Amino acid sequence: MSLNNLTYPLQYEELRPDTDPEITLDLDRLDETLNPETGFEGIIGRSSALRRVLEMVETVAWGDSTVLLLGETGTGKELIARAIHSHSPRIERPFVKLNCAAIPTGLLESELFGHERGAFTGAITQKIGRVEVADQGSLFLDEIGDIALELQPKLLRVLQEREFERLGSTRTKKVDVRIVAATHRDLEGMILKGEFRSDLYYRLNVFPISIPPLRERPEDIPLLVEHFVQETARKLNKTIDAIPSDTMAALTDYQWPGNIRELENVIERAVILSRGSILRVPHRDLQSRVTAGHSSEKPETLADVEREHIRAVLKQTRWVLSGPSGAAARLGMNRSTLHFRMKKLGIVRPC
Ligand SMILES: Nc1ncnc2c1ncn2[C@@H]1O[C@H](COP(=O)(O)OP(=O)(O)OP(=O)(O)O)[C@@H](O)[C@H]1O
Ligand SMILES: [Mg+2]
Repeated sequence: MSLNNLTYPLQYEELRPDTDPEITLDLDRLDETLNPETGFEGIIGRSSALRRVLEMVETVAWGDSTVLLLGETGTGKELIARAIHSHSPRIERPFVKLNCAAIPTGLLESELFGHERGAFTGAITQKIGRVEVADQGSLFLDEIGDIALELQPKLLRVLQEREFERLGSTRTKKVDVRIVAATHRDLEGMILKGEFRSDLYYRLNVFPISIPPLRERPEDIPLLVEHFVQETARKLNKTIDAIPSDTMAALTDYQWPGNIRELENVIERAVILSRGSILRVPHRDLQSRVTAGHSSEKPETLADVEREHIRAVLKQTRWVLSGPSGAAARLGMNRSTLHFRMKKLGIVRPC
């Protein structure tokens, strides 16, 4: 695969003649952007920062080395984890994901390693853990920084010895699993505070890949905007064929504290709100977002944007989460992820 394929024909500057206040989207050429022959399906961008990341993915994918993905929220860690799996010889085997932050510590252990019937109160049947399900495939441990200290030695054993026991069993099981872990947290800082084991960190940190935040690769923004506009318009059965150049400039200047996920949400909202075929990003929205972007270190900014967007979609679907026109489908996530996010963001249905 050649990374040169990441250079898409549609370039924002080229399509912004001084006399024309709008960028006309070439829909035929956009189709190429939507279905790129990059070998990295669904990964959009042309910045050198992204290319460096993809080169690392290519380098590491073929082997079994543990990969640690580092990056702010919404930068594409999960997308990259999937790309590593799909470019590895394990492609025909399962890619198993476990979000270590989404499951209470008590349950996480049995989620990881499984349990025998009667292992603890409530264990009425035997359960296979994700480590075992991922045998011969890849195990993506998302939010690894959130894994409790007491569980870390057991995970270290999987990394070192490729072995574990189901809860309630003394039989040691061997697995052949490739681990990809991700976090937005500063693991070295956590080690200093005694919150993360250094031995586990060194085992995870074999091949670290840092995914840069969107504000450090603004060249990717116009391509991503065009991609998400087309994707959302198609999903909503709308036609958007132009983006005002000042809107694109404002989108490119914005700092995107929530990175690509935030961009995706803002564009989806804009497509929903646009009446004609020209993309309208609400001016006030963008103004306040631009201001918020300057204080990108504040975690509440992303939470506010996400909460606002999820609430807006829930309102449209009358709080229906599942089904083809439910909020989860509209937000491009599955029901349990939406449920988890709603809980995390404190979104409750009004009485
Ligand atoms: N380069 C890209 N091209 C197209 N879409 C992207 C790209 N990077 C990320 N995305 C999209 O942005 C969204 C967020 O990406 P992803 O879930 O991989 O981020 P993350 O780093 O895992 O975020 P978090 O830390 O919040 O879990 C997803 O919908 C993903 O498909
Ligand atoms: Mg993620």
